[in-house]
Amino acid sequence: MTSHLMLKEGALENKVIVITGGGTGLGRSMGKSFLELGAKLVIASRKMDILEKTASELTELTKGEVLPLKCDITDYAQVERMLKNACDKFGKVDSLVNNAAGNFISPTERLSNRAFDIIVNIVLKGTYNCTLAFGKHWIKEEKKNSSVLNIVTTYAWTGSAYVVPSACAKAGVLALTRSLAVEWAKYGIRFNAIAPGPFPTKGAWERLLPGELMEKFDPALRNPLKRMGEHQELTNLASYLVSDYSGFINGEVITIDGGEWLKGAGEFNMLEDAAKKEDWDNIEKMVRKAKSE
Ligand code: HXC
Ligand code: NAP
Repeated sequence: MTSHLMLKEGALENKVIVITGGGTGLGRSMGKSFLELGAKLVIASRKMDILEKTASELTELTKGEVLPLKCDITDYAQVERMLKNACDKFGKVDSLVNNAAGNFISPTERLSNRAFDIIVNIVLKGTYNCTLAFGKHWIKEEKKNSSVLNIVTTYAWTGSAYVVPSACAKAGVLALTRSLAVEWAKYGIRFNAIAPGPFPTKGAWERLLPGELMEKFDPALRNPLKRMGEHQELTNLASYLVSDYSGFINGEVITIDGGEWLKGAGEFNMLEDAAKKEDWDNIEKMVRKAKSE
């Protein structure tokens, strides 16, 4: 565990980075680290009051430059406007972090088609809207050395009950990451993704672990490392992936979950919690006996 920056001072100097959903949660934390490493920052989402508050707090904390921009990423015209405003202010954009998301737990049969649309529109459509607008811009400008970092989750490849629209959309974002990593490499645009396990944020916890669910299903207890992620651990990885140090990493998804999804996947991993020392003594006897018969 660490609460320190990993990269050296100035590692992101001269970089202009746009983070969607950068006013709250993990987006805000990534923004703070990017600023501490010398980047200029644009944070974009729907709620201007939250963005402005975050921008002034981060400026105060880091003395860096932050531009808050109101933008609903489900609307392509707003995304184009956001990109233009970012370029007008800073002259260029180097990296896009597709971090904004919408999600809540619900049995799928209780969802209206509009509820399904809302989540897929934010997560998948919002991500491809931003990616398309920024990508076209970089290609037109013949700018080399740009990058896109997509925040997905481990159920992008396992799927998950009770968050089905989010799982469908995150799977799409992962496909987008891997597809464009190859197609747009010739334009000098790298694509990578981070798949976080549980990192406490207000936005996620209120919608995924409301009320008693947090006590009943504490993600820390289910994790092989018996804890949740620390924001700094994720922001250090994100800083590396938008920096030039990761210049040869392209099309990768990096899981940062303490081993959580693998624990759910391995056939006998449940024995970790189910079998104690005495159980193992009995089990060994039975297994040895089977061999001798
Ligand atoms: C069933 C629901 C519902 C619920 C909303 N709806 N909540 N249906 N059960 N609990 C339905 C509504 O009735 C409506 O459908 C439709 O969904 C849209 O709801 P609105 O409230 O009108 O939408 P909107 O104001 O746009 O809000 C979008 C939102 C909201 C996604 C519902 O939660 C939001 O703004 N979220 C942004 C932040 C967020 O979600 N952060 C968490 C990310 S966590 P009808 O048919 O009635 O009109 C994350 C972690 C992943 O992604 C991995 C974890 C390990
Ligand atoms: P969060 O604080 O709720 O962040 C979500 C952000 O998305 C908010 O700032 C929200 O801002 C923005 N947003 C939603 N709809 C938008 C839209 N239409 N246009 C623009 N912005 C929009 O949640 P978080 O936990 O930090 O999640 C950040 C990312 O990490 C998400 O991609 C999430 O799926 C991923 N993730 C989180 C965890 C975790 O444990 N926390 C685990 C795995 C993956 P506005 O409301 O102002 O628009």
